[in-house]
Amino acid sequence: MITDDFRRKVKQNVAANFDRSLALYQAFEDRHHFFAALTAELAERIRLAPCSRVLDVGCGNGISARTLNARFGCRVLGVDLSEKMVEAGRGGGLGEEVRLVVGDAEQLDAVVGAAVFDYVLYNASIFIVPDVDRAIRQASACLRPGGKIAFSFYPRLAGPDDQDLLAEAFRRMGAPPPRFRVITEYEAACRALEAHCGPVTHHRWERPLDIPFLLDFFAIPAQSASLFPGLAYEARQAQVARLLGGLADWAPRGAAVVWRLAEGTKPQRADT
Ligand SMILES: C[S@@+](CC[C@H](N)C(=O)[O-])C[C@H]1O[C@@H](n2cnc3c(N)ncnc32)[C@H](O)[C@@H]1O
Repeated sequence: MITDDFRRKVKQNVAANFDRSLALYQAFEDRHHFFAALTAELAERIRLAPCSRVLDVGCGNGISARTLNARFGCRVLGVDLSEKMVEAGRGGGLGEEVRLVVGDAEQLDAVVGAAVFDYVLYNASIFIVPDVDRAIRQASACLRPGGKIAFSFYPRLAGPDDQDLLAEAFRRMGAPPPRFRVITEYEAACRALEAHCGPVTHHRWERPLDIPFLLDFFAIPAQSASLFPGLAYEARQAQVARLLGGLADWAPRGAAVVWRLAEGTKPQRADT
């Protein structure tokens, strides 16, 4: 059973992991422009209207918020648990239309005040929010009727028949799979979304399985923490290299990295 104490500890760990991840997170983005691309994909799939008001929950150091502003002309308020990520994001010259604040996805009311948004987006963040029902309820409370809540979800490594290749990699390595690959499962996040926004629309963004890319991705401390919990960073990276090395023969066989995206629209009458 997931207790309040567990949730509190998850959030402490998430903040500490991302505080520690800042330099490698930005280095990864400088090389791959990946989180900006994922943000743009999410925005395009949900047909985000240009120049909207967006609440970017789990904004990190502002990559998603800046992308929404630069490419879609949005005014963005970003909220994140990690003080270091937010501080670094603010240091990068955000302009007047983007604001980043420290705050918790489960306590948006403490940071948004009376503001109302056209969209509440979670780019690569919702799967680490422990109380997703509460988070989506809070998101819905500051969304205008007809506005959308949408998220991109932690990637699956999928074989050509949609097999779970990460589970396969742990099996090949002879190691137990992690207990919490994500804190909140996709289905749970979608159920919470459905409770406030009615039927959920699903999308997928697939990219070919690219082992050097994944090694860079999991070099971000916060991304590998859940794979080998309890191991120090250097030891964890050695295990990640072994784990992904075990998947090299899948790359030419149509394996993919699959990001699932989901969206829901708040009803015009707020009775759901
Ligand atoms: C993978 S990063 C994504 C950052 C950003 N959206 C981007 O596209 O670059 C996930 C972020 O979610 C934040 N996060 C996780 N749980 C959170 C919570 N409960 N409230 C606010 N932010 C949270 C983390 O601190 C981290 O910065």
